[in-house]
Amino acid sequence: MTNKLTTNEGQPWADNQHSQTAGQRGPVLIQDYQLLEKLAHFNRERIPERVVHAKGAGAKGYFKVTKDMRAYTKAAVFSGVGKKTPLITRFSQVAGEAGYPDTYRDVRGFAVKFYTEEGNYDIVGNNTPVFFVNDPLKFPDFIHSQKRDPRTHARSQDMQWDFWSLSPESVHQVTILMSDRGIPASYRMMHGYGSHTFKWVNATGEQFWVKYHFKTNQGVHNLSNELANELAGKDTDYLQNDLFNAIETGDYPSWTVAVQLVPYEDGLNYPQDIFDVTKVISQKDYPLIEIGQMVLDENPTNNFEDIEELAFSPANLVPGIEASPDKLLQGRLFGYKDAERYRLGANYEQLPVNRPKVPVHNYERDGRMAQNQATGVNYEPNSDGGPIEVPAAKMHGDQLSGQTGNYPTDPDYYSAAGKLYNLLTDQEQARLIENIRLNLGQVTKPAIQIREVQQFYQADPEYGRRVAAALHLDTAQFE
Ligand code: HEM
Repeated sequence: MTNKLTTNEGQPWADNQHSQTAGQRGPVLIQDYQLLEKLAHFNRERIPERVVHAKGAGAKGYFKVTKDMRAYTKAAVFSGVGKKTPLITRFSQVAGEAGYPDTYRDVRGFAVKFYTEEGNYDIVGNNTPVFFVNDPLKFPDFIHSQKRDPRTHARSQDMQWDFWSLSPESVHQVTILMSDRGIPASYRMMHGYGSHTFKWVNATGEQFWVKYHFKTNQGVHNLSNELANELAGKDTDYLQNDLFNAIETGDYPSWTVAVQLVPYEDGLNYPQDIFDVTKVISQKDYPLIEIGQMVLDENPTNNFEDIEELAFSPANLVPGIEASPDKLLQGRLFGYKDAERYRLGANYEQLPVNRPKVPVHNYERDGRMAQNQATGVNYEPNSDGGPIEVPAAKMHGDQLSGQTGNYPTDPDYYSAAGKLYNLLTDQEQARLIENIRLNLGQVTKPAIQIREVQQFYQADPEYGRRVAAALHLDTAQFE
């Protein structure tokens, strides 16, 4: 049966093709409330895009435990082999706006919301294990350098390389971005990382540091520059369409989820700062432990409601999983929920896609678009049987010492990038140098090029010399 057309107030709608007019040719009448409402609603269709990661695509699925992790975390989502937890993911580009081509070189976002029995747990990571900066104070400037020039309104190689060349901690992430992995062939064919170090706590209060790895079961595949450029013109939404079509035809992508676990004290005494997101923890020291499978088997039902209204935050943690002192992570704990209040509104957590699959009981009330509110007591303490606290969910503290201040981060900016360069095959190194030539080569100010080559040189002199030669810079100045 065909549905009857109604207004948003449910009133039957007689004519959706002809406005009410004064006579056949006459002006439109203000009494035509259906016309006015239709125009007014249309004017409000767009909401602010995400300030970063605006372009993306997502899908629903589940996480299934293959190794019980109760010895390390009391989080229910990781306990009990075979347990399935529903989830939703969103993959994204970092810098481009909502309509940006999917195949431009960029880091890709890799965000997962687990709807656990203890509330929502989000891992808001990327397809790389590290990041460009490690202090939240630098994040807005970093992003400005990636976005559009305020005067020309164009993206600018000068801006991004200027920032990177003056931020030596970025050289590890820049090396990954300029490698083959800078242009994934598919969201299905890239790994994901939680990137930061987080904390796990078990039921007896024992604490561990943890890093998350999502290993694609489809194999890692990337695009050449030529193909990526061609696709950018042919199919702006190439990665989005690839994901949607695979799931639509029953070819469900999956990832093996693994963790690196570091005993609490060992982590504090590790030779390098494990809370510095520009570095990785060696898998030789702390090998990957497989804990489960993530499978995506359902496309969004409605892209706006499932993906645009989707709100992740690294602050969405559950008992047994806590933040670490990682400075960048600490900044993120504030940034996302604040952005989402602005982007979606004060009650964004009540939108269907963000609503946990467990009941919500607290004393927060009202605000724009509030829905499904409890009508009971709205203050605490109360003698009215309102919701009570759950002391077992309290977080574990860390011992702190030292003086407050603005401290610099670990000055070893380079060794991780040098190690990565030396892990690449000859062909991968050659493509890395070529990609840097293609990008850094567009910079118009020689001083920026020289500064950046100095970063590569510090990572590994051969790396620096090869980039310098590719850019026809005099290598003697770096020796
Ligand atoms: C201080 C550093 C950072 C700040 C302040 C920051 C802030 C933000 C903000 C405000 C959003 C938009 C949120 C929304 O409107 O829903 C966002 C999105 C995102 N960020 Fe960050 N970010 C930071 C670093 C990182 C890092 C290190 C990663 C990865 C390891 C990351 C991964 C993502 C992802 C994947 C998204 C998109 C989430 C989605 O698909 O909705 N960000 N970030």
